[in-house]
Amino acid sequence: MRKIAVINQKGGVGKTTTTVNLGAGLARQGKKVLIIDLDPQANISTSLHTESLKSMHDFLIEGAELDECITRLGKDLDILKSKSNLTKAEMIMVGEASRETILKRKFEQIKGYDYVLIDCPPSMGLLSQNALLYAEEAIIPASCDVLGIDALKKMISNIQNLNSVFDANIRITKIIPTMYDRRNKICVKTLAEMQNLFYELVSDPIRVNSKLKEAPAAKKSIFAYDKSSRGAEDYGKLVKSVIRDEKRVGSMSKMDVKAAAVEAE
Ligand SMILES: Nc1ncnc2c1ncn2[C@@H]1O[C@H](COP(=O)(O)OP(=O)(O)O)[C@@H](O)[C@H]1O
Ligand SMILES: [Mg+2]
Repeated sequence: MRKIAVINQKGGVGKTTTTVNLGAGLARQGKKVLIIDLDPQANISTSLHTESLKSMHDFLIEGAELDECITRLGKDLDILKSKSNLTKAEMIMVGEASRETILKRKFEQIKGYDYVLIDCPPSMGLLSQNALLYAEEAIIPASCDVLGIDALKKMISNIQNLNSVFDANIRITKIIPTMYDRRNKICVKTLAEMQNLFYELVSDPIRVNSKLKEAPAAKKSIFAYDKSSRGAEDYGKLVKSVIRDEKRVGSMSKMDVKAAAVEAE
């Protein structure tokens, strides 16, 4: 079972869009997928149909069973949703022992999926730290602009810090350049810089595509909303490349992250 935190402490870089469409795309390839919404803004939960009454807060704080909090979205796609009361849960978690590894312990019972994808909040707070220490694999969407590359470097150094403080083995397996527009010089330059710094960790870019903005309003993935769109083409490619990584992820170590971070300095 691959557990992946989709993470970047910067907001608006495509974390939620990537989690939804990567999750839906993997499920379409026959992978059994659980999407976990770990952002109190609950954008995933509004982008897809989520009927369960209970959410992450109930599971973490109120002792609800995992099954009660999971909604089945399709044959191979489940979601554990969030609500704004997850902020309250985070405040309660702050007072608990070994607070950074609460999810690692509570999520031990998650089994039987090929992929668990976690949509993280736009901060490096306790929820994000918990997601990384549970998943031990990170995918970082980064927007193709100056602030985007800056956030990417900070994110890598945050992960490096977590690895050393908690003696963890969090590996970055993909950096996804998002909001790419080849007519924009800054975009082209930023993409080249990402590729120079992080080589094969960088996926093909996800181009700017208004269909990706429209799909959540229809509560659909890009594949269900418009399968001939550029968004569907780009996320389709990403899905295939994440599946190809299955072979090498096991052998990747946090050293790969370190090497990348050193170069980022
Ligand atoms: N490739 C894209 N092209 C156009 N709009 C996009 C693209 N990716 C994301 N968006 C839109 O940008 C906004 C921020 O994306 P989102 O995935 O919510 O970012 P995050 O979760 O990192 O805050 C949303 O309105 C989303 O629909
Ligand atoms: Mg989001």
